[in-house]
Amino acid sequence: NVETKVDSILFMMTLEEKVGQLVQYNGSWDLTGPASEMGNKEKEERLKKGLVGSMLNVLSVEATREAQKLVMENSRIKIPLMFGYDVIHGYKTIFPVPLGETASWDLEAMEKSARIAAIESVADGVNWTFSPMIDVSRDARWGRIMEGSGEDPYLTSLVGVAKIKGYQGDDLSDSTTIAATAKHFAGYGFAEAGRDYNTANVGEYELHNFILPPFKAAADAGVATFMNSFNTIDGTPATGSKMLQRDILKRDWNWNGFVVSDWGSITEMIYHGFSKDKKHAAEIAFKAGSDMDMEGGAYEAGLLELVEEGEIDESLIDDAVERILRVKFKMGLFEDPYRYSNPELAEQISYEEHREVARDIARKSVVLLKNEDDILPIKSEVQKMAIIGPLAADKDTPIGNWRAQGEANSAVSVLEGIKAAAGDNVEITYAEGAPLGIGERSFLMPLEINETDKSGFADAISKAENADLVIMVLGEDAFQTGEGRSQAKIGLAGVQQELLEEIYKVNQNIALVLINGRPLEITWAAENIPAIVEAWQLGSESGHAIADVLFGKYNPSGKLPVSFPKAVGQEPLYYNQQNTGRPYSEEHVTFSSYTDVDKEPLYPFGFGLSYTDFEYGEIQLSAEEMNANGEIMVSVPVTNTGDVAGKEVVQLYLRDLVASKARPIKELKGFEMIELNPGETKTVEFIIDEEMLRFYSANKKWESEAGDFEVFVGTNSRDLKKAEFTLNK
Ligand code: IFM
Repeated sequence: NVETKVDSILFMMTLEEKVGQLVQYNGSWDLTGPASEMGNKEKEERLKKGLVGSMLNVLSVEATREAQKLVMENSRIKIPLMFGYDVIHGYKTIFPVPLGETASWDLEAMEKSARIAAIESVADGVNWTFSPMIDVSRDARWGRIMEGSGEDPYLTSLVGVAKIKGYQGDDLSDSTTIAATAKHFAGYGFAEAGRDYNTANVGEYELHNFILPPFKAAADAGVATFMNSFNTIDGTPATGSKMLQRDILKRDWNWNGFVVSDWGSITEMIYHGFSKDKKHAAEIAFKAGSDMDMEGGAYEAGLLELVEEGEIDESLIDDAVERILRVKFKMGLFEDPYRYSNPELAEQISYEEHREVARDIARKSVVLLKNEDDILPIKSEVQKMAIIGPLAADKDTPIGNWRAQGEANSAVSVLEGIKAAAGDNVEITYAEGAPLGIGERSFLMPLEINETDKSGFADAISKAENADLVIMVLGEDAFQTGEGRSQAKIGLAGVQQELLEEIYKVNQNIALVLINGRPLEITWAAENIPAIVEAWQLGSESGHAIADVLFGKYNPSGKLPVSFPKAVGQEPLYYNQQNTGRPYSEEHVTFSSYTDVDKEPLYPFGFGLSYTDFEYGEIQLSAEEMNANGEIMVSVPVTNTGDVAGKEVVQLYLRDLVASKARPIKELKGFEMIELNPGETKTVEFIIDEEMLRFYSANKKWESEAGDFEVFVGTNSRDLKKAEFTLNK
């Protein structure tokens, strides 16, 4: 059994070898953080001595084989390496960025895209992904909001578990599965002012109720590893937080995988003013429960000495090493260290099939935000279409940031997708209007946005003037979101807003397609442009998927996993907020809002239209009271009152009216996707039980409290039918 094998290896190891297992080096392929001072030669020497547990950013069967060989052919105990990489939304075949993919609310589809990402990763020697990112985030300014599942802990939990299942399958030793990572533990998505790496000021109540649930779900789902985070949380760097890592994760949740630090996050505790040097940082992080040091050099610098000096008990080192060895055993690396560096794995892949799946998931992720006068789907009377905007012919931006081995410029552009779908009778013209991201565009370097060049405006205007329909494709460059890409402004960057308004002056028949990784401030467009399609960064098949929606081949079914603001000053903005003591007044200003913009989002969480209409009937409850072991069935009839078949995500929310802590005005607790033909009605049923009513209470535990609850069912977090019930205890 695994534990016996782990113990027998551990027994043979010297202290130096044990500390070596806790070290992770970057290879020389990709830099996803600042490189350490250590040169490749020195890294190679340490690999040969068996003093490295894992590498990241080493890609290809040959390269991983070569690194593995250094260990297997030279080291004393021959403990195979794990090879980690940020496989965030696909490996070669690129799927929608996670925020976009979450908009599909289709868990099966998300599991499938993770499965495909795993299959393509192992074909390149990668056997461990630093995904899923399950940081709940409420702030559109935060560049990494694109990597997560938005603002809701329940939805994020379900998506995280689906992803983990997709990556890890049922058997980690299967050569087509990879180890997953739940990251970033914890609070990273609550960075103050949406500024990446910034302080998270959250108390216990926020932490337990909104940040931790997805991580608990990931731990319960058997995720192999956790990654800690760069931020401080309540004054303590997460990397140095014993409360998070040792107490909650390892003790309370009884999770037996290992925690890898974020890139250099152990050493960064020096900058936080929490550690005086690398050795001190190593002591704090290690005692706190960080098992592996990613490219930070702190554990190498300090751990050995700390044990020899008696500052750290060797049994703690053993625990960390055991955790790492356990994962390696489960991955089958001791049976065959080259299991994932096998050229035959690539031969079994059909990239064509993967692209078909990518197209399907991409179109499911599109959210129709506005469709005045049913301007969409495109009507057969449209004979002349002008496709305009910096992202219209862009084959790179839909690949998004954190693109793994997705090739630059490899996506189907919107223009290509429309041309392929439109047929020969439609005349299509194209104008860029103005460029968006200019100069070098890469993961690490700052992006320059075009703020001045409007030389293409005249051409775009004349093409728009002559068109029956204008499709404007605007949004964000791929490198406007992602790590280190926080923004204080979230409107249409550069000269795009001006371009949109100029085109609108000559032709108001516009469908605006947005390609972006975060909620944007698009208030003017929402007031003036008749149709708006939120198309995120949809990956390799982006243009085809968008065309499927524009031409009605696919009836849009996506729903926003995050609120869209009316103004950036509303951020952080989220639907599951508390009521405040002054929620509303018609007469005076002394209530909780703004004097220049109201407090409501432009488009709420859960929002998304269809080419058909759904009508919700009244909520029926099977009872008005329940006790702790009882349940109540909620049922709502939903009818398709339009002319075409469509899918609807029926959403269930609850509110605890009086509790020992102020509770949110509503919280998502369930959803079901239904498909209805025109005129068809389905009654959707949800079961409410006591467990659903639990929260982290004033007693500092997950429990429900007796009292009255409101239950809501509807098409988004704003437009809901309501009923009430009482929990008796
Ligand atoms: O996995 C990432 C993490 O999310 C941010 N810092 C770098 C890591 C490895 O690339």
